[in-house]
Amino acid sequence: MSAIPLTIPRPVPTVSFRAPKKNIPQTPFERSRILERCRAYAAEHNPVPPLPPQELLVHADRLIKELGCDPIYRDYIGVLINNELWREQLARVPFERRLLLLPKCLRVESKCPAPFDEFGLLCKQCGLCSIQDLQSEAERLGYAVLVAEGSAIVMSLIQTGKIEAIVGVSCLSVLERAFPYMEAAAIPGVAIPLLQDDCIDTNVDLDWVWDYIHLTSDDQTRRLDLSQSRDEVDFWFTPLNLETIMGPPQGETEQIARQWLCRAGKRWRPFLTVATFQALRTTPGAPLPEDLRKVAVAVECFHKASLIHDDIEDNDTARYGERTLHEEYGVPVALNVGDLLIGEGYRLLAAAQISAEQRVAMLKVAAEGQRELCRGQGAELCWARQPAPLSTLEVLDIFRKKTAPAFSVALKLGAIYAGQFEEVEDVLDTYSEALGIAYQIRDDLSDLGDTGETNDIAGLRPSLLLAAAFERAEGEQKNRINAHWHRLSTESPAQIEALYLELQADERCRNLLERYKEEAVRSLQEVDNANLKGLLRRVIGKIFNDTEIKGWCKEFTPESKTEVSSPASN
Ligand code: IPE
Ligand code: MG
Repeated sequence: MSAIPLTIPRPVPTVSFRAPKKNIPQTPFERSRILERCRAYAAEHNPVPPLPPQELLVHADRLIKELGCDPIYRDYIGVLINNELWREQLARVPFERRLLLLPKCLRVESKCPAPFDEFGLLCKQCGLCSIQDLQSEAERLGYAVLVAEGSAIVMSLIQTGKIEAIVGVSCLSVLERAFPYMEAAAIPGVAIPLLQDDCIDTNVDLDWVWDYIHLTSDDQTRRLDLSQSRDEVDFWFTPLNLETIMGPPQGETEQIARQWLCRAGKRWRPFLTVATFQALRTTPGAPLPEDLRKVAVAVECFHKASLIHDDIEDNDTARYGERTLHEEYGVPVALNVGDLLIGEGYRLLAAAQISAEQRVAMLKVAAEGQRELCRGQGAELCWARQPAPLSTLEVLDIFRKKTAPAFSVALKLGAIYAGQFEEVEDVLDTYSEALGIAYQIRDDLSDLGDTGETNDIAGLRPSLLLAAAFERAEGEQKNRINAHWHRLSTESPAQIEALYLELQADERCRNLLERYKEEAVRSLQEVDNANLKGLLRRVIGKIFNDTEIKGWCKEFTPESKTEVSSPASN
């Protein structure tokens, strides 16, 4: 059975894209790079849609030259350029007049309980694949959704005048066939290519689908370049730039604190402050106010203080590939620098030009975050005095308490600065909780294979991997892990890791990571502010940098594969 979701019956096309295999960039980085360039290209040249396929290919060829990328991506780039051309028009069509077309091949074919009727698949919401999430979100917005081959039904929907735009997910070879029809229909249409053409283990960039589904003309953050924002924030952490808002460092202790602030770090937390402000502010596009910088730097001061103290508490000798602060200067100096940075954070909040109400709200959020973080850290440290096995739930609860607060403070301070806190406080709580847990799980997982001193096994910290392994172990394995929990084990980290793999504890943790990422996304369901919703969704993709979801299908039999690349499409 063939799936041609975007096919709108029109006269047979005279030109079509060719359909080479493996013609889609396989890394998220490369796809993002190409997408950014397609956007810039479309903005610069501004060709008016609909463009016939030949013309699109001329643009695609130019971009390939500019990008210096493999010409095998020509068709893929053609699709992306076409999306960009329609973007503004799609944004102006109300959700209720849009159609989302999903391919059946996203389902888990062997387990999918959904029946079919003449309109396509009737999803049973079993949660096995991404169809349910995409469908319910789109329907919630007001879309008509079809999980089907599109032809007849799409045609009739267009003819009734009820559908004015289409968002389609499909494999590239199907899109290549459908393109001329879409062009002929001249209806705004964007297409998100599946990442494989063979319909086995297909992936889709979930963030892209999400972005297009939510695209509206009043969502200003779609065009917000998150990488650029993050670079800008990073640039604030040079000694000179810090001096402009903090004044020159007074004495050696302040100098050490500034060096520590500048040394390294991913700057996620100050970035989140800035991004939240940008999503919520009423003057999009204006330069970032200098006082926002104070608030964002305050957020990083709190975070960096917590890292200094954490390294002391954990007896860690290395961070950022260098010596930790207490290794370099001794524990007393490092403790004191950490304390100073907490004071610096509050000093910066006090110095920002904001209303009295905003200042009180910021102090409350920062102080509450500090308390929560110390309680979480405390739960771990008190446990470590007499370590005993913890369940995965207990470990996750420690993660929630120790890692989520810094994210919560970062997001909330941005919202307070934008003057929109009350409306979003609850959602920021649920979102940052899920984000914090996912972040810490990933951190735990990143220890795997690292047998150095920062490894949780060597450091004997409460590890989710250890908890997951303990829950699955039996007999002798259970004894070995139990000994490890009690710090009585003589086994090396490598031996314990081998046990993790045997018990598939790593897989369990990866599943939990996905679950909390999904929970963060789900927490956004009720958000009314399109800017904030879109932005926080994109942030998950950005922080975790793997924007794909996976579906499994064997949609095409060998016969129907032949059909897809039949002469009619060439
Ligand atoms: C370290 O956070 C503590 C954890 C929650 C894992 P980051 O890894 O984000 O630290 P920086 O910001 O890059 O320094
Ligand atoms: Mg710690």
